[in-house]
Amino acid sequence: MNVLFIGDIVGSVGRAAVKRVLPALKSKYNPHIIIANGENAAHGRGITASIAKEFFEWGIHGITMGNHTWDNKDIFEWIDEEPRLVRPANFPEGAPGQGMAFIKANGKQLAIINLQGRTFLPPIDCPFRMADELTEQAAEKTKHILVDFHAEATSEKIAMGWHLDGRASIVVGTHTHVQTNDERILPEGTAFLTDVGMCGPRDGVLGMERNAVLHRFMTQLPTRFVVDEGDWHFHAVSVQLDDSTGKAKKIEKIRLTEDEWLMLQ
Ligand code: FE2
Repeated sequence: MNVLFIGDIVGSVGRAAVKRVLPALKSKYNPHIIIANGENAAHGRGITASIAKEFFEWGIHGITMGNHTWDNKDIFEWIDEEPRLVRPANFPEGAPGQGMAFIKANGKQLAIINLQGRTFLPPIDCPFRMADELTEQAAEKTKHILVDFHAEATSEKIAMGWHLDGRASIVVGTHTHVQTNDERILPEGTAFLTDVGMCGPRDGVLGMERNAVLHRFMTQLPTRFVVDEGDWHFHAVSVQLDDSTGKAKKIEKIRLTEDEWLMLQ
């Protein structure tokens, strides 16, 4: 089973990049299931029903979220009716939506679990204990389990990789928008990458227009950030899983910039 996971899609530039690149990636990597982090898809903040619908039309089978889940208020209207979208499972009890979903496509099944870190992020429930609970539940139905750990600190993400080694097929980090160079298969068979990276404007700061970010750093004044425009970069990861064991056989980072992409066309 081949899985393609796309890093945080940021704003309209990120969405355009994904739409543009996805057909070629489908032919190159033959993914049975495609998952994307969509928590920054609506102008950097949250996701709307129409954007989610568009992602599904392009062939994305499941969407993961993070700390921006509730930024776009219309999500409260539809999250409980959308079985293909997961928000961090360790949000406090009573939060709408779900933290785990079983995605079926092309004759395969993949459990997707979304968790959020607590280092430099709001103090929510323990992601590690929630990971124990959900991977155990998922394993009753499938050997193929993907965890998107949406966290700020590389140490917390690496710790989660070790925590779930052999219990999840894939553990990938999101949120920091910078692709790390540490993809590997851990000793018990879990494919791991500290951060997948982002899809969106390349010349800003993590997708945001850079002058506003610089202004805040230099003045410490409240500054309104907007999603940048211009050229994109695209980050994802492709993982091959063994159908019978659910363990990873191969992990490959994908990194494309708009100018490289145009040269390839
Ligand atoms: Fe985030």
